[in-house]
Amino acid sequence: MSNKMWGGRFSSAPDAIMEEINASIGFDYRFALQDIKGSLAHVSMLAETGIVSKETAKSIEQGLTQILAEIESGTFTFSRALEDIHMNVEGRLAEIVGPEAGRLHTARSRNDQVALDFRLWIRDTIDQLDRQILDLQQALAEKALAHAASIMPGFTHLQSAQPVTLGHHLLAYVEMLGRDRGRFQDARRRLNECPLGSAALAGTSFPIDRHMTAQALGFDRPTANSLDSVSDRDFVLETLSAAAITAVHLSRFAEEIVLWVTPQFGFARLSDGFTTGSSIMPQKRNPDAAELVRGKSGRMIGSLTALLIVMKGLPLAYSKDMQEDKEGTFDALQSLSLCLAAINGMVLDLQPDLKKLKTSAGAGYATATDLADWLVKTLKLPFRRAHHVTGELVGMASVRGIGLEKLSLEEMQKVEPGITQDVFSVLGVDKSVRSRTSYGGTAPANVRSQAKAWLKKLDRLK
Ligand code: ARG
Repeated sequence: MSNKMWGGRFSSAPDAIMEEINASIGFDYRFALQDIKGSLAHVSMLAETGIVSKETAKSIEQGLTQILAEIESGTFTFSRALEDIHMNVEGRLAEIVGPEAGRLHTARSRNDQVALDFRLWIRDTIDQLDRQILDLQQALAEKALAHAASIMPGFTHLQSAQPVTLGHHLLAYVEMLGRDRGRFQDARRRLNECPLGSAALAGTSFPIDRHMTAQALGFDRPTANSLDSVSDRDFVLETLSAAAITAVHLSRFAEEIVLWVTPQFGFARLSDGFTTGSSIMPQKRNPDAAELVRGKSGRMIGSLTALLIVMKGLPLAYSKDMQEDKEGTFDALQSLSLCLAAINGMVLDLQPDLKKLKTSAGAGYATATDLADWLVKTLKLPFRRAHHVTGELVGMASVRGIGLEKLSLEEMQKVEPGITQDVFSVLGVDKSVRSRTSYGGTAPANVRSQAKAWLKKLDRLK
């Protein structure tokens, strides 16, 4: 039997392989809710404009509501022969309503229908992700406030650079996630135009009211060009791009967790809840969740790349290649949601070893810049000269394998006669961190007020 939705000119059924490669119901069943919402808005507009009768519209609406209930209760049977969610819903509608169901598809096409469903689905998904990112920001900001004065090493090139506070470090991620939310919001704002009524590609000769459907579905306005409406997937690309960047941020944090919980770093500990054992090495506590967040970022970035490549050679308007826009997107956004939840869990779980963090903060001559700054401020040396003097002192200390503060005043004065006892006051990590009071710097007072400002802002957004 040929396809009952479009099989008029076909005399036989598709080849089994044709059916398999063509069908999208295996993944676009996720659009069920959006598809039915869209159809409800469409049919009520068709009735309002006199394109279908009020009675027909009413029975179609009832049929659609019943289908939604069937899908939600799990009694709906999806059929691969009906290809996709759009035809599965319409096929069932015909069973319930009879031939009048066929009027629902007046003045629309699956091309504008899928564009609509996907926009609605992306919009809902962005809203869910936004809430999750907010939750993570809050967890981080709370921990940051608690650790506004906890000293840890700050790194560049993964070499000890200058001491910072753990709170400052965590707030760096709150900032990144704030930009991530901004990117998702930006994508959401731009996607919020309704493609329904663009029909196959050229619009329609029926007197439809696209403003009415746009408004009913919560869009700001209808899309302006029917060709663009059915061939555009920018809204998916933008969302995947925001997702990929967020995934990169989560991956960087995950990588830090992986490093921090090694016995070599020993900066923090994850509980049994977020680690796994090894089947052969009894001592192991592996941070698998963090590693998987790091690993999944690869797949998420891949989904963005894959869709860019699908789209790049397509002439206007719709081509079936565009059905390939879905699986990678579902996978990426679902993975992102899982990664956000996993990082959130680890942020709450992570127990920093404050003693270890502070000791390491002083290692590797991390206060050398403080010494150079002291020479500039107290002895009025030019910074380049101060840098050189400090370098010599670091050299002396490192040859002997001791810290800067273990050099005697006499030894220091051999390099720079002006140095006084006062220099020792800047060699401690506490003083170093407290002195970084420039706007955005790591001083605990700064970190405390930044964490509080974030918590207030997040509270307002929730
Ligand atoms: N399942 C299709 C997709 O996901 C729906 C649109 C089909 N349009 C068409 N002209 N065959 O892209």
